[in-house]
Amino acid sequence: MKNVAVIGSQWGDEGKGKIVDWLSSEADVVVRFQGGHNAGHTLVVDGITYKLRLLPSGIVRKNKISIIGNGVVIDPWALLEEIDEIKSKGIKVSIENLIISESANLILPFHKEMDEIREDAAGKAKIGTTRRGIGPAYEDKIGRRSIRVMDLISKKNLNQRLETVLLHHNAIRKGLGKNIFKKDKLMEDLLKIAPEILKFSKPVWKKIYEFKKNKKKILFEGAQGILLDVDHGTYPFVTSSNTVASAAATGSGCGPNSINYVLGITKAYTTRVGEGPFPTELKDDIGEKLGTRGKEFGTVTSRKRRCGWFDGVLVRQTIKISGIDGIALTKLDVLDELDEIKMCVAYEIYGKEIDYLPAAVEDQLKVKPIYKSFKGWKSETKGIKKFDDLPENAKVYIKELEKFIETKISSISTSPERNDTILIEDPFKS
Ligand code: GDP
Ligand code: IMO
Ligand code: MG
Repeated sequence: MKNVAVIGSQWGDEGKGKIVDWLSSEADVVVRFQGGHNAGHTLVVDGITYKLRLLPSGIVRKNKISIIGNGVVIDPWALLEEIDEIKSKGIKVSIENLIISESANLILPFHKEMDEIREDAAGKAKIGTTRRGIGPAYEDKIGRRSIRVMDLISKKNLNQRLETVLLHHNAIRKGLGKNIFKKDKLMEDLLKIAPEILKFSKPVWKKIYEFKKNKKKILFEGAQGILLDVDHGTYPFVTSSNTVASAAATGSGCGPNSINYVLGITKAYTTRVGEGPFPTELKDDIGEKLGTRGKEFGTVTSRKRRCGWFDGVLVRQTIKISGIDGIALTKLDVLDELDEIKMCVAYEIYGKEIDYLPAAVEDQLKVKPIYKSFKGWKSETKGIKKFDDLPENAKVYIKELEKFIETKISSISTSPERNDTILIEDPFKS
């Protein structure tokens, strides 16, 4: 019995939502294990679009269990809003199909404010965060002063926890000349919604153990991408969690041996939202074309995504860092109209050729991509479901890409629709 972790191999928005939704036909349980509502996962099912931020992408299918693990940071108001939104589209969300970890940490209004205060104060040095309070919430978690889902049970405990966390936040706010954040109103607001959140709350580690024992298939759904990982990404232009596959174990409460196959989601080109190095970025007409055809606007913040050529050096690196077994290559159709397609196969820096992205941001900004060029296929691949039906030049591009990254391409996505996907190797069975 195999459990699969799905993770982004670039800077996020690779199409994780589409692939998790497609694969979840085979899974019994779908688990989010890190990140928060900075994520925006889009699924298109029979022409209906669902945009998920905190809810696992398995939620839209009947008879699947969705789990929000302890590694996720939850803005309780954002979660309730998302539940209402998805329910209004006819999707069932109840304690029968949604479980939230009692140990998950909360994002509270002062986290969002701190995110904004810092980004505004940073000027040119800003990270370009989603301004959802993700960073400040994870800081409080590691600082051991965070409020967790279980803290909503007792008024006395909640009061004490809020005193502690606000002591810290208000000292910083005062230093930055901002107003003091008052506890009483927040306490009142939290107690009002507490029953709505607590009804989903359970020990997730125990549930996962039971599911495994009963031979249920588990799909772990990553958010963001490895290049946004706080340890392995383009630091400091990263998110504040570990986005690599091994975070699925710590973020849900099971051992690393519970993950049997790591599926990396990889766009056939590259995009990035927010600031930070991006060696293959195209600030020309081709970049614009990719953005328009790929509808590259942020799901969460509607910001225009920066676009560029496929960076083989980066993906080969993230595959190694995260132990990726197979790749789902997405958005191939976006390249359909191009005369020429380029792939970065090495970098040049200080007059030398290198085969990896250096760790220092100063060097990451300096590396010059060395490209291999491919002929475009100039015909429509949208909706193709069999590898053999792809144009010859598309096959050449895919095969060369596969060879370069030294990892099997196990599926190819050719449109946003759930079933417009070419299956080469089933991650649950291989
Ligand atoms: P995620 O964050 O990794 O789940 O990705 P997003 O949902 O933020 O962004 C991916 C976007 O590409 C969404 O709008 C998807 O509907 C869309 N998409 C996914 N796969 C494909 C594909 O193969 N072709 C095209 N044209 N769009 C796709
Ligand atoms: P999904 O799951 C793309 C980026 C932000 C910013 C940096 C830090 O949809 O792939 P944060 O708010 O997390 O502190 O912002 O990370 N970022 C994403 N970029 N897709 C995402 O999620 C992202 N989540 C965060 O743009 O550069
Ligand atoms: Mg996204």
